[in-house]
Amino acid sequence: MAEATGHDIADSGLAPAGRAQIEWAAQRMPVLATVRERFSDERPFAGLAVGVCLHVTAETANLLRALAAGGAEVALCASNPLSTHDDVAASLVADFRIATFARRAESAGDYAAHVDAVLDRGPALTVDDGCDLVARLHRDRPAQASEVIGGTEDTTTGAVRLRALSASGGLAYPIVAVSGAATRLLADNRYGTGQSTLDGILRATNVLLAGARLVVAGYGNCGRGVAQRSRGMGASVIVTEVDPLRALEAALDGFAVMPMEAAAEVGEVFVMATGNRDVLRAEHFAVMRDGAILANAGHFNVEIDVASLAGLAGGRRRSVRPMVEEFEIGGGRRLLLLAEGRLVNLGAADGHPAQVMDISFAVQALACEWLVQHARQLPPAVHDVPVEIDEAVARLKLATMGLAIDELTPAQREYLASWLG
Ligand SMILES: NC(=O)c1ccc[n+]([C@@H]2O[C@H](COP(=O)([O-])OP(=O)(O)OC[C@H]3O[C@@H](n4cnc5c(N)ncnc54)[C@H](O)[C@@H]3O)[C@@H](O)[C@H]2O)c1
Repeated sequence: MAEATGHDIADSGLAPAGRAQIEWAAQRMPVLATVRERFSDERPFAGLAVGVCLHVTAETANLLRALAAGGAEVALCASNPLSTHDDVAASLVADFRIATFARRAESAGDYAAHVDAVLDRGPALTVDDGCDLVARLHRDRPAQASEVIGGTEDTTTGAVRLRALSASGGLAYPIVAVSGAATRLLADNRYGTGQSTLDGILRATNVLLAGARLVVAGYGNCGRGVAQRSRGMGASVIVTEVDPLRALEAALDGFAVMPMEAAAEVGEVFVMATGNRDVLRAEHFAVMRDGAILANAGHFNVEIDVASLAGLAGGRRRSVRPMVEEFEIGGGRRLLLLAEGRLVNLGAADGHPAQVMDISFAVQALACEWLVQHARQLPPAVHDVPVEIDEAVARLKLATMGLAIDELTPAQREYLASWLG
């Protein structure tokens, strides 16, 4: 099979293993497959260079296949040096002719060089995850930035950076914040994080959740998912919150609600999902039970104050299983920290299931198509995903699940549009 012209990957011999992973994911991504088929008929990106900075995974490979089927000339670099699957990178080059620049655990220098390699191909569209590609373009290659017609951003953190760039007046082209799409908040944050967080905890510890007191910090999209799934496994769930509305919602959903100070004394498993720092800290560790399990589902490794935990333990810490570190603190009590306090669903499990990424990446693909059609009329700002894309993806997903829904009758449509009643 012919190879893509430019690439920098770890080992091209891994391509067969990578292809198997990509095909495995593809079987679970029917919405994206539908989009890919339409793209290959309509070729919305014919001849367009698309620069992509995403986690190099089997699911991402299927997004790139859809863009390439639509005529895009795709170049890929990693959005995180640790999430690259070298086998997937090899298959992207060998089997799908995608110019791929990514090696697992690459140095900071190589990471930046790979971002540049993608930009060197002169993308007309950017697809970013965390804003590193766009930041490099705006900071170091401003003349090139003004030639890009549009972009998408995959994460909340990236959208926050972009809004800051936009507020400073420096954003050169319109970017759609895919992370805010309604379908995505539902599938990715609630159901993806809900399931994969428990998957990470169970793979790391094999603890029995039935009957366990499990504390979820934060009842946002992610925390709600973790709480619901934990209840489904028979855990007795306690929610901590700082927002009175979210706390009320948790209480009305039937969960125990209390401050962390009280939850720390009784919890057996703790899951952070706040996006905030120091949610578990020294005063909480001080009252926890022996054997308490501490896990983080939030984006950054700041939710559990690991430095304080280490300080309490002194040198009394040891690895007891893969991704489980035991800290012995006062009174001979041992606290078990999973995945170093980093995202437990990525550190100790496989992250979101392909079915979840099917929805997220279908939104991405359709947002790219929408940008090609509309970018020239849009101001250089951060834009929401159009509601029609959300609805289209939800309809496609329902169809692939074999589910049909009702249509409004003309009389109902008229009734809903009238103020006369
Ligand atoms: N693990 C994953 O794969 C994954 C996926 C999506 C998002 N995330 C991350 O998970 C985090 C939460 O995302 P979300 O979409 O649920 O956010 P969200 O804003 O919907 O919810 C966060 C909740 O935490 C609460 N909170 C803030 N500080 C708190 C504190 N000190 N104690 C208790 N509650 C507190 C807030 O009031 C809010 O209700 C973010 O860091 C996000 O980036 C992780």
